[in-house]
Amino acid sequence: GVWTARVVTLFPEAFPGILGLSLTGRALAEGLWNLRTIPLRDFGTGRHRNVDDTPAGGGAGMVIRADVMDAALREARQGVPAPVLYMSPRGRPLTQARARALAEGPGVTLICGRFEGVDQRVLDAHAVEEVSIGDYVLTGGEIAAQVLIDATVRLIPRVLGNQDSLAEESFSIGNRGLLEAPQYTKPARWEGREIPEVLLSGHHAAIAAWRASEAERLTKERRPDLWRAYAEGHVDPAKDRQ
Ligand code: ADE
Repeated sequence: GVWTARVVTLFPEAFPGILGLSLTGRALAEGLWNLRTIPLRDFGTGRHRNVDDTPAGGGAGMVIRADVMDAALREARQGVPAPVLYMSPRGRPLTQARARALAEGPGVTLICGRFEGVDQRVLDAHAVEEVSIGDYVLTGGEIAAQVLIDATVRLIPRVLGNQDSLAEESFSIGNRGLLEAPQYTKPARWEGREIPEVLLSGHHAAIAAWRASEAERLTKERRPDLWRAYAEGHVDPAKDRQ
């Protein structure tokens, strides 16, 4: 079967969203990947299809009920071996290595939260892993799910037209896990600013050396964490680097 993202959400109309456009949208239309939304509301209880209740122990907001989420997850998982991830600011940070690993698998089942969260018992029961897209808090998991799907789908073979660009981009193996060097295009002079001379030299080895040194300079300056990992030699982009 084709790589499939299954998304449990209270807002199925948020999908495919921007994933329906451009590269990911074309690939979706061509059947290179699949998207299925599982509307959490369909599994709500009572006349109002309630999905949440007040937090045990008190506190602000509402918590998604374990029984409701369990029913939605059973529907979503139905014999598919894909990992189940809960988009949450408490999760382990999403990395390029994780996107690479997910792209090699059968797909992913994503839980989008709203309110104050999901009852921990259903996360434990389904061995759900929490994944964060960064140290900030979103209103809900839908945008985070789209970020994860986008980062993963573009790595599926034949989705990206030019697979060479993957080898050279930030965090890639060809770029040693560093940030990518700056890019330029014509005109050669714009508002008094020149393109770095070496890029116009046609000297491929010199260009590669310039890009490598720029990648190092930018990474040292902006991402001392990535630089340390590279300098200490435990960047193995083929493995799941956290
Ligand atoms: N839901 C709310 N905030 C989030 C974040 N930073 N990452 C993933 N999911 C989230």
